[in-house]
Amino acid sequence: MTERLSVQIDERNDAFTSAVKSKLLKELPTASTESLEWLVMEHYQFSFANCGLLQAAVECTRTLAEPGVSVELQRNVDEEDGHAPMYKQGMLNVGTDMDQRVEFPATTAFLAEVEALCAPDPSRALGALYATETAAIFEHEVLFEICREISDRRGFPYEGSLIKRFHDIHLEDGVEQGHKDGLAAFVDLDQTGATFTEGEAIDREVVRQGGLDAIQIMEVWWDALLGKALAEPAGTAA
Ligand SMILES: [Fe+2]
Ligand SMILES: [Fe+2]
Repeated sequence: MTERLSVQIDERNDAFTSAVKSKLLKELPTASTESLEWLVMEHYQFSFANCGLLQAAVECTRTLAEPGVSVELQRNVDEEDGHAPMYKQGMLNVGTDMDQRVEFPATTAFLAEVEALCAPDPSRALGALYATETAAIFEHEVLFEICREISDRRGFPYEGSLIKRFHDIHLEDGVEQGHKDGLAAFVDLDQTGATFTEGEAIDREVVRQGGLDAIQIMEVWWDALLGKALAEPAGTAA
């Protein structure tokens, strides 16, 4: 029996997220607070753009014969409502003003590339968002630790803070796992060769390609983020 497509996409995702996670957590104690704050600001850009990206996919996946994909993505949008402002306020409470962020071209390119995957092909959008929602779990895990480190260094208690609560919602409360599982059901719904009187079939190979393309885009982005944040000018700092 063929392995489920969601499992195949997960394997690729895990390989990249595990590598980024272990590198980040290893460097966390020695990275500068400025670098850590910068990483949070860049990740916030994805959080801020997320609802718009998902909404584009909600519209695009309405052309599928299976209505559940668009319904699930709409549920995701509704759940994300208010999260970016919470992230922003949570960081402001511990001394980081997201409005001070200076544009980083790799993040601009990343968001444009994700947007290009969200429409117009609905199967590609499904695969791509399955991959990004899966990676969101890892993102919150590492950002949870980064935000804790920033709070500790600045003398703000992490326990009971809005920023900790923000990450907890996504991890402990299972929001991101729910987004991943909600889409997995459709990623694994193989309709190859099926025809419907109304709407398109979910095309397994296009779903797969969308997932792999999204992972590649995320790899390039995280590579650029780590390259800048962790490239401490060794020996140059007085
Ligand atoms: Fe969220
Ligand atoms: Fe999500």
